Amino acid sequence: TYLSAKAPVFIAPAMDLDMFAHPSTTRNLELLRSYGNHIIEPASGELASHLVGKGRMEEPEVIASVLDRFFDCGMSLAGKHIMITAGPTYEKIDPVRFIGNYSSGKMGYAIAVEAASRGADVTIVSGPVALKAVNPRIKVVDVESAREMLEACERIFPSCDIAIMCAAVADYAPAHPADRKIKREHNDLPVIELVKNPDIAATLGAMKKPGQRLVGFALETDNEMSNALHKLKAKNLNMIVMNSLRDKGAGFRTDTNKVTIYKLDGGELHFDMKSKREVASDIIDTLLSL
Ligand code: CTP
Repeated sequence: TYLSAKAPVFIAPAMDLDMFAHPSTTRNLELLRSYGNHIIEPASGELASHLVGKGRMEEPEVIASVLDRFFDCGMSLAGKHIMITAGPTYEKIDPVRFIGNYSSGKMGYAIAVEAASRGADVTIVSGPVALKAVNPRIKVVDVESAREMLEACERIFPSCDIAIMCAAVADYAPAHPADRKIKREHNDLPVIELVKNPDIAATLGAMKKPGQRLVGFALETDNEMSNALHKLKAKNLNMIVMNSLRDKGAGFRTDTNKVTIYKLDGGELHFDMKSKREVASDIIDTLLSL
């Protein structure tokens, strides 16, 4: 029944401690969570520890209230089409080499899973990443370079209600990618001339129709607030999610993130360090409050 379910799925595990602590259970729960399912279990430390047998089913009243809350606001993205750019872009130097960056795509995929679990139809325009999206509401369009990402976005954005620009797009690309592998034996050291890549977020900002929402990210190392506010205006975004590389556990290749969200109306929200899935939920809650 689960395997063919297309609706959001809630799971309330109930089993004895040995079963619960078994690695196969742990892995399955992690997988189910990453597919956008909702796991309902007692929060640790909620009761005196001798009462909380791990694996104990959550109290039925709590399960019912989680479902109540979900149907109140949880499906608030039903009928919406959301496009999310994610991951790095690879800019070709020659047939075997590229310019890229350390983006893992985890933040963008976490937002996709969260949005799909709230009923949205999601398209990820994804640079090369090691992640898979298995939720039936998530479609992945694979691209490699910034130019390919731009083309896919220009095609998909007109039918979207919301676009979230999470990708770490390379700012420059080699001007003349070589057809053949550049050899080590060279008379001079090779010089790679670069050209500027298109700004995908700004291009969509200029295409944006009334009612469409555009969300950007800003990864900063210094002057965080003024840089983020500048990007918010320059790219015609509705809000921007800023993460600072000065915060340990934020940014690239981590499972956690710490963000500040700036809204066009001047509002600003500071969040604690959280898992990327929880950050995704904060981003969507903020988006829905615009
Ligand atoms: N972005 C984009 N296309 C680009 C560059 C950035 O769509 N060519 C998007 C990113 O996905 C992000 C936002 O624009 O949502 C800001 O990206 P960032 O790299 O922080 O900003 P840049 O405009 O590239 O400025 P800089 O690298 O100088 O900080």
